[in-house]
Amino acid sequence: MVKKNTCIFISGQGSNLKSLIARSRDSSFPIKISLVISNNKEAFGLNYAKKFKIPYILINTKLKNYENKVFYYLKKYKISFICLAGYMKIISNSIINNYQGKIINIHPSLLPKFKGLNTFSRMLKNKEKNAGCTVHYVNNKLDSGNMIIQKRFSINRNDDEKILKKKTQKLEYLAFSEAIVKIFRNN
Ligand code: GRF
Repeated sequence: MVKKNTCIFISGQGSNLKSLIARSRDSSFPIKISLVISNNKEAFGLNYAKKFKIPYILINTKLKNYENKVFYYLKKYKISFICLAGYMKIISNSIINNYQGKIINIHPSLLPKFKGLNTFSRMLKNKEKNAGCTVHYVNNKLDSGNMIIQKRFSINRNDDEKILKKKTQKLEYLAFSEAIVKIFRNN
């Protein structure tokens, strides 16, 4: 099987990146993580790129035409698939248009509920019964592309934001890799 050269965009902890790196070492997993891009030079997740000798670059999204640097490296590493894993910036239209249907994101809610930030506090305030995560394609609207996989759990009375995050992330690691397997199953 020829693995798809994949770029992971991160901004912070990188626990989803860590989990994808672990999965991608399996020869039957459809992607190879060939590049990591971070908009945050302090992102802890960069340590995983370093540890596993995955090329990584930093970008400054405040710079005009910063996308040129992104495109240069996506081309250099022959990237054909992109995962946003805790990337806290809106990805620009020029990148989306060049990678139509080839960018996926993981979001910590049962979309279409709770798009955007601060999902856990809003869920608690709203007295939601269920929480979960969604892997979806990225389009020009925030957290709105077609869903690939969703995983849910029931919120317990004592669950606070910290617990919700922990439970959600545990499911995210499964959901992200299952979504990738699902996408490439028939390719
Ligand atoms: C994840 O919970 C993801 O749903 C959200 O940002 C978080 C990133 O976590 N988009 P990590 O950086 O992968 O640990």
